[in-house]
Amino acid sequence: MTVRVLERIAEFRAALDAARADGGRVGFVPTMGYLHEGHLSLMQRSTAQCDVTAVTIFVNPLQFGAHEDLASYPRDLPRDVALCDSVGVDIVLAPSVEEMYPEPVLTTVSVASLSAGMEGGSRPTHFDGVATVVAKLFNIAGPCRAYFGEKDYQQLAVVTRMARDLSAPVTIVACPIAREADGLARSSRNVYLSAAERAAAPVLNRALRAGADAIVGGEIDPAAIVARVAALIDAEPLAELDYVEVVTEGTVTRPERVTGDLRLLAAARFGRPRLLDTVAVTAPR
Ligand code: PAJ
Repeated sequence: MTVRVLERIAEFRAALDAARADGGRVGFVPTMGYLHEGHLSLMQRSTAQCDVTAVTIFVNPLQFGAHEDLASYPRDLPRDVALCDSVGVDIVLAPSVEEMYPEPVLTTVSVASLSAGMEGGSRPTHFDGVATVVAKLFNIAGPCRAYFGEKDYQQLAVVTRMARDLSAPVTIVACPIAREADGLARSSRNVYLSAAERAAAPVLNRALRAGADAIVGGEIDPAAIVARVAALIDAEPLAELDYVEVVTEGTVTRPERVTGDLRLLAAARFGRPRLLDTVAVTAPR
């Protein structure tokens, strides 16, 4: 095992400062652990593009609502460290909650408008928690390329804008979604699916692809596309639909008419876990 595992912010910061002083390019992958192929694909992208790859594993309490799954969020640090090592990660920071938040947090980063609607509609305090911890992690990591998954499309939009607005010395790199063979987006929460729910869950991706096909087929009414995707998800008895949306790529806004590069997004609960997916599509000219 060659990966260094640190618990202290100061040690992590010193290690990355030393790497940069040696002329190394630092790649950074923030995670909440319970790693899967999706996380590993971000790390592999980093190791291919950077000299030193650093990962944080921290289940951030600030981004969980009062009735969400903070306490039961899956955790397995030894397994995560072994997986990081297997893809050539150099440094892991796995801080305690006390190390990250020794005092009550008085400073909150809030990215207006981008945090509203979709995930923000269902989880009103979620993106303030994400933006705050990611701003903190960027301050801890220092100048770097930071890798984020398109699976969390709205998070990517929020983090990208936060980094720009706050002049963070960070280049955000967006990475494609890693999926199971049947199309289900990989997620730490998939472990909570029963066999029947696991069999039902790919409907999310199937429905989004059907929506994308409708766009490619010439449908220009966003409401019709949303209704079509929602109907497909609603037809699955084990799915409890949260939302379906179609937005202009790079924004969180539904266009009046379907044109250009777009994103279809959906969230639904399958038993306990709430799953997300998104598909990119370009409307025909
Ligand atoms: P977490 O859910 O652990 O995800 C860490 C990173 O992995 C995010 O950028 C996420 O988009 C990416 N990811 C998750 N599943 C993926 C998949 N199937 N394919 C590609 N990438 C995937 O997102 C968070 O943690 C937190 O909100 C965090 C940014 C770490 C702040 O606490």
